[in-house]
Amino acid sequence: MLYHLGFGMADLGNCSPRLAFLSGDPSRAELIAQNYLQDARCLAKNRGLVTYLGYLGDRVPVLSSTSGMGAPSLSIVVNELIQVGIQQIVRIGTCGAIQPSIEVGSVIITQGALCRQGAALDVAPVEYPAVADPFWTVAMVEAARSLHIPYHLGLTASVDTFYEGQGRCNTSGNTYLQRHLREITEEYQALNLLNYEMEAGTLLKMAGVYGFKAACICGVIAQRTQSEAIRPESKEIAIDRAIQTTIKAAESFEQ
Ligand code: URA
Repeated sequence: MLYHLGFGMADLGNCSPRLAFLSGDPSRAELIAQNYLQDARCLAKNRGLVTYLGYLGDRVPVLSSTSGMGAPSLSIVVNELIQVGIQQIVRIGTCGAIQPSIEVGSVIITQGALCRQGAALDVAPVEYPAVADPFWTVAMVEAARSLHIPYHLGLTASVDTFYEGQGRCNTSGNTYLQRHLREITEEYQALNLLNYEMEAGTLLKMAGVYGFKAACICGVIAQRTQSEAIRPESKEIAIDRAIQTTIKAAESFEQ
């Protein structure tokens, strides 16, 4: 029995899922299972981490699981998914865009991440690359194109905090930003980073070290060159596009 996820090999029966979709939000893990997978059943709900087992079109078993918010929680979940035989993990998340041309509601496919995350340092040195699986990444680009979903492909900034680490102070309980964070968003823009989120960097480093395949797609729910705020009116469409793209990409592989 996995200590945090709350299920074990016996719960998988005689199907051996190799692929997992990972969402920060447990309600998204549930939405993916119930609206996009066939014959989904809940394996466990433990500590806010829900996991479902369901099937893609041609009876390929897949888990839809929850990473929780941020890299420490994600690192535990990923470790436990590997223990039950998962070999491919796709993060389906949300993010804030930091380039002015990226519209809320579009999706960002991560090619690699700037990983400013403490948990990743327990897995690999700071210089270790955080790169997405090229085959999954291309499959997601092709899927987005064929579905006419507006997408961007590029580099992601993965950080540990939603407020200070992403340079928020107007919408934050803490109005003081340390000096090195005051112009961090402008610096990342100049470095051609596309977006902020809180899990991809650690996931991609773990993939390199453990030897599994990982990729990340995020729906854009904030446009940080205009405002610090989340745009809830666009959240549903952004998430739906990220999920549709991932499912179509998954179906393009023979799992
Ligand atoms: N997730 C983040 O980490 N940042 C945002 O702005 C939106 C979602």
